[in-house]
Amino acid sequence: MVKISPSILASDFANLGNEVKRMEEAGVEMLHIDVMDGHFVPNISFGAPVMKCIRKDFNGIFDVHLMISEPLRYIGDFVKAGANIITFHVECDSDIKETINAIKGAGIKAGLSIKPGTPAQAVAPYLDQLDMVLVMTVEPGFGGQSFMADMMPKVQEIRRMITAAGKEIDLQVDGGVNNETGRICWENGANVLVAGSHLFQQADYSQAVEALRESCQ
Ligand code: DX5
Ligand code: ZN
Repeated sequence: MVKISPSILASDFANLGNEVKRMEEAGVEMLHIDVMDGHFVPNISFGAPVMKCIRKDFNGIFDVHLMISEPLRYIGDFVKAGANIITFHVECDSDIKETINAIKGAGIKAGLSIKPGTPAQAVAPYLDQLDMVLVMTVEPGFGGQSFMADMMPKVQEIRRMITAAGKEIDLQVDGGVNNETGRICWENGANVLVAGSHLFQQADYSQAVEALRESCQ
């Protein structure tokens, strides 16, 4: 079954608590939390203190996506703020193995993400230690961009790697996901869909989530 992870980057920050409560009521599996440092990507979003504030408003999985240059320095902060999965980028400046160990050592799940220009093979050396791989379907940094369909061969390749590894590893896609592109990702092997603007721009979150789910059946 497909899992839906709404990206709060597209939500109304002035009503964040209410926004995430409504997403929980809509039955999503996870909440996608985009952290940007203005260095790894050309945009700044929010950090662990904001996340901590909404922990009480959402009982499900906090799926944290770190688009920051030095994730290793901040793992402890995000764990304390209630992260259940931390995904960081293979293109970052921190040591990849050490960062995975820090996340797993804290007793939570670890994900590794790749930007559009990075090949699937970049995650291969770490696959055994990972719980999730995130294939970006836009250049990270901003919501509301157009889906890059040319990432689908990479999604297929990573799905093959996961199957070969014989482990339960989630394959997430992020960027430009709507009912149409979400279905394409699902058909190509992704099982976790991040969707920001597509979901949060709709008046009825339950209907929006249900329609996205149904598009993958
Ligand atoms: C982009 C972020 C995404 C973003 C997706 O850098 O990682 O999670 O919020 O937004 P949409 O779904 O609007 O493309
Ligand atoms: Zn994201």
